[in-house]
Amino acid sequence: MTTPRKLHIKSYGCQMNVYDAQRMVDTLAPEGFVETASAEDADLVILNTCHIREKASEKVYSELGRLRTAKDEAARNGREMRIAVAGCVAQAEGSEIIRRAPVVDVVVGPQSYHHLPQLLAKAKIDGRAIETEFPIEDKFAALPDPKPAVIRARGISSFVTVQEGCDKFCTFCVVPYTRGMEVSRPVARIIDDVKRLADNGVREITLIGQNVNAFHGEGDDGKPWSLGKLLYRLADIRGIVRLRYSTSHPRDVDDALIEAHRDIPAVMPFVHLPVQSGSDRILEAMNRKHTAADYARTVERFRKVREDIAFSSDFIVGFPGETEEDFLATLALVRQIGYAGAYSFKYSPRPGTPAADMRETVTTGLDKTAVMDERLARLQDLIDSQQAAFNKAAIGKTVDVLFERAARNPGQIVGRTAYLQPAHVVASPDIIGQVLPVTIDSLERYSLIGKLAGHTPIAASRSQPAMTTGA
Ligand code: SAH
Ligand code: SF4
Ligand code: F3S
Repeated sequence: MTTPRKLHIKSYGCQMNVYDAQRMVDTLAPEGFVETASAEDADLVILNTCHIREKASEKVYSELGRLRTAKDEAARNGREMRIAVAGCVAQAEGSEIIRRAPVVDVVVGPQSYHHLPQLLAKAKIDGRAIETEFPIEDKFAALPDPKPAVIRARGISSFVTVQEGCDKFCTFCVVPYTRGMEVSRPVARIIDDVKRLADNGVREITLIGQNVNAFHGEGDDGKPWSLGKLLYRLADIRGIVRLRYSTSHPRDVDDALIEAHRDIPAVMPFVHLPVQSGSDRILEAMNRKHTAADYARTVERFRKVREDIAFSSDFIVGFPGETEEDFLATLALVRQIGYAGAYSFKYSPRPGTPAADMRETVTTGLDKTAVMDERLARLQDLIDSQQAAFNKAAIGKTVDVLFERAARNPGQIVGRTAYLQPAHVVASPDIIGQVLPVTIDSLERYSLIGKLAGHTPIAASRSQPAMTTGA
């Protein structure tokens, strides 16, 4: 028997990268690789990279600097360490990565992970292997399915990819270039994945995609299915008690999705719906193709069918040309909507995107970075106060929690509410995998602390009490 080889994967960026990292582990397992927590003693280190902002992509090079030392050290001990760069920086920069960092052996783009074993073999012979081309046309059509059925269950909650890529071409964003055009998986494959995960103990599925509600995978009737229609089908699978999806585009919210929220108890009333800005002028320059009022109307459509629904969002401050007035429109929209939480970012010009060439008119006389920092802080203060109010509103209520695992504190079990808030109770580990009502007593930082309100397992829950977003 050969000794297992050790594999260390470090993932940056979005949920798709987290999912892809698991896929790489599963692809390399038959090659004798087992995961290790430390890069230093690994035989293969994979950096699964993100290109979305400059900071994210530059992290890769500082990490590669550190890995060079580890690789040299391994070589001195007569051990060979291989280094692969995967993900969106690999796709965007290709062989440029090896030019900048000769320590790298393999560069592999997000569409080619199933070739990793061959690429590693090639690197052994040729010294280097690079594969970052998009396979043309349907990324999911080629066999074996590159988002494959081999994905293993890991706990109670699991991601399943339903679509990849994006055709929206927001002017600031690299995703259409790194992940390519929008492609959906066939419904039958998704159902197979969800069934198998459910059989292996998974209770909650988050359907993921860069633009998940653009989903239009082929159904068993040969017609394209919408995300809403898919949710109805998945809700029937035994064992699945919670369904989520991320990330949605406000333009692709159709009636079927709204109806799924109205009709299906398992579809959680928490939607990540990035808006980016509250200024129509900036939204247009971003090529978002909707106004702030369109967005607010979309939120109302959800709220009409599910009054307890809550939203999170992404924002960019300091987009080229953003004035104080534009920024105030963003703050006004945040106040109008009232979020359970949101991510906000300083605009980062990305090579090859249209916004990178847009003229800056923002700053007359002031330092642009200082203006961006100040706007980011104001926006984050507002979002933080909304999030704190939202979390505080849970105290004293009884809410459904899906229990996931033993907590760090002995005797405690941790799960999540419908709104992904972590909730801790003292209970037996038997409750893991069940949705149970919990009476919330207090809030410790972002975690809710409570007591089990009853011991009867609930298969699927709808009876979440309304929570106001306390704007
Ligand atoms: N597909 C999703 C998210 C894509 S990336 C969507 O359409 O919303 C995640 C977030 O990163 C974006 O929502 C945006 O807020 C942020 N982002 C993307 N490009 C950026 C850039 N060039 N500078 C700063 N933030 C950016
Ligand atoms: Fe990027 Fe826009 Fe596509 Fe989202 S919708 S991935 S922000 S191009
Ligand atoms: Fe980053 Fe690529 Fe995801 S750029 S956000 S890892 S799609």
